[in-house]
Amino acid sequence: MDTSQPSDPRPQPFARDMEITRESHDDADVTEALPEDAAPAADARGRGRVVVPVPAPLTEHGPARVIAIANQKGGVGKTTSTINLGAALAEYGRKVLLVDFDPQGALSVGLGVPAHELDDTIYNLLMERSAELDEVIRDTGVEGMDLLPSNIDLSAAEVQLVTEVGREQALGRAIKPALDRYDFILIDCQPSLGLLTINALACADQVLVPLACEFFSLRGVALLMDTIDKVKDRLNPDLRILGILATMFDPRTLHTREVRQRVLEAFGDLVFESTINRTVKFPETTVAGEPITTWAPTSNAAEAYRLLAREVVAR
Ligand SMILES: Nc1ncnc2c1ncn2[C@@H]1O[C@H](COP(=O)(O)OP(=O)(O)O)[C@@H](O)[C@H]1O
Ligand SMILES: [Mg+2]
Repeated sequence: MDTSQPSDPRPQPFARDMEITRESHDDADVTEALPEDAAPAADARGRGRVVVPVPAPLTEHGPARVIAIANQKGGVGKTTSTINLGAALAEYGRKVLLVDFDPQGALSVGLGVPAHELDDTIYNLLMERSAELDEVIRDTGVEGMDLLPSNIDLSAAEVQLVTEVGREQALGRAIKPALDRYDFILIDCQPSLGLLTINALACADQVLVPLACEFFSLRGVALLMDTIDKVKDRLNPDLRILGILATMFDPRTLHTREVRQRVLEAFGDLVFESTINRTVKFPETTVAGEPITTWAPTSNAAEAYRLLAREVVAR
């Protein structure tokens, strides 16, 4: 073995320092505490930092690429990634529609929309033939990004749809009029593989899977992939996996680095270069009701979602 060429290009003392300081900074904002070149995205595959070009401006919009953000595990960053990927795409001049497809309504709340007070939500579009898209679409405060909100009414739709003809295609029918007005439609799925998530997969072109860099994160991924395959076979032959997004990454701990390495071994080039570090800035943005790209525009966390947006456009 050639010991003069360590496969990890990161200076080793740095990695060790990080381990030592771990205890005293448990809840600290690790993203901000690290020097810029310590970002793990580039070194995990043992190659240099990959440059992903800034997308060219658009002169007209649509047809939309529909992306389902899915993982049946809760708390892995689906909603956070939907808001911030959407906001970063909008910064690059893309017209974006976010679809809150979780009855919890966290996406709506995270954008400052009081969804529980709304009469018109995605539920109406799913269940009422007369409902108009424009009556349900809301501004998000981010230029170029709109929202189809949801609230607890959506949980009734899941039950009511069971007896409908074409129950898996209800969301596809609902968003059809939006396809030629947006460049991206991002669907924030609920943490289950139930009928709502199947609806999202049935109308999506692509699936983005956020995976937390935590011990049990790979559990259940096989089931998700199996569900995606079934939807592909039976409902949506063109569905494909856009990529795996490593989230909740803590560069100070060996543990999350190991988990990310295992994710890379399992999924190879499907894993985005962009890795989302664990930082208290994200819970803060939820309280603020705005994306990280406007809440902390120069933070590493905002930059990570901009890199993700560039990768998404390029893929
Ligand atoms: N990278 C991150 N670092 C720290 N906290 C995060 C991060 N991403 C999300 N969170 C927080 O974790 C919780 C769950 O995230 P969320 O995006 O709602 O997950 P999901 O939609 O998969 O359930 C939220 O409180 C959110 O603010
Ligand atoms: Mg969520």
